[in-house]
Amino acid sequence: MIKENSVSPPPLQLFRNQPEKKTLTQEQEEIIRLKREKNAILLCHNYQIEPIQEVADYVGDSLGLARQAASTDADIIVFCGVHFMAETAKILNPSKTVLLPDLDAGCSLSDSCPAEKLAEYKSNNPDTFVVAYVNCSAAVKALSDVICTSGNAVQIVNQVPQDKEILFVPDQNLGQWVIGQTGRKMKLWPGSCYAHVLFTKESIERCRLEYPDAPVVAHPECVQTVRDLADEVCSTEKMVHYCKDHPSDTFIILTETGMMHRLTRELPDKAFIAGPTGNCACNDCRFMKMNTIPKLLECLQSAQPEISMKPDLIEKSKLPIERMLHWSK
Ligand code: 13P
Ligand code: SF4
Repeated sequence: MIKENSVSPPPLQLFRNQPEKKTLTQEQEEIIRLKREKNAILLCHNYQIEPIQEVADYVGDSLGLARQAASTDADIIVFCGVHFMAETAKILNPSKTVLLPDLDAGCSLSDSCPAEKLAEYKSNNPDTFVVAYVNCSAAVKALSDVICTSGNAVQIVNQVPQDKEILFVPDQNLGQWVIGQTGRKMKLWPGSCYAHVLFTKESIERCRLEYPDAPVVAHPECVQTVRDLADEVCSTEKMVHYCKDHPSDTFIILTETGMMHRLTRELPDKAFIAGPTGNCACNDCRFMKMNTIPKLLECLQSAQPEISMKPDLIEKSKLPIERMLHWSK
């Protein structure tokens, strides 16, 4: 019997490569022209909207983007991602102009660890070794011993001297996953990504019923009950490699929906089901989606908004980022 008021969940969303060749819009063409004219590089996170990914010079995860930012010889870095990512590019390239189309593109995870709170913790626990996930402010980075991304967190934590007590900030879910992978004890800051925690055990079990043969690939920011259902837990970049090397032609992907564009573009013969949340068939990060094509165009035309930072903050936050790049070579 059908229960009164019962609402059936929205149908699952399946993403496939669209083989017909897309033509770029006038605005996209103008963005490409301005990049060339100004010797600007456009670095783009995997979660950006498809039209931005189409005009980017590099599309990747936080680690790949930091590496690109560290090695570019462009005069201007236009960063299509969120604020902490553009800030990282500025820290690695203080003499360059770093632009972010919308300065309000923040991150709930970054907001969950205010620098004053971390400073207070450190003054009460002066011997703590702080490993900070890159999703944090420059002020938090400046208080940390080493930075990590989801792509290298295990590798980084494995290199922390054994006699150190570790505090992992700000993502408790990534931290908990790293503890499982490394066997290393760590204290965890109680932060989380508002978007990734929306995936639930029930929503993924429903997916599994519909696509029983599709491997489940989850970002480590998902909660443990969801990660436990996954065949693979990894960063967005590693998702591309995992799906490429796996014989299956269909995958259930538990991360932000923008990732489906990167996956379908790189793996045109495979299909990807966007992991559903409790009441939605997809999962957009509202911060990542603040960057739009009109804002990107305006930003290239006016060279604004620009990331500006105090030199001493750049100096202090650079050390743990450089240590990460060195430790994850
Ligand atoms: P990646 O490091 O896997 O790109 O993830 C960044 C992020 O913000 C995840 O929500
Ligand atoms: Fe931050 Fe989550 Fe958005 Fe990533 S998806 S930028 S962790 S709010």
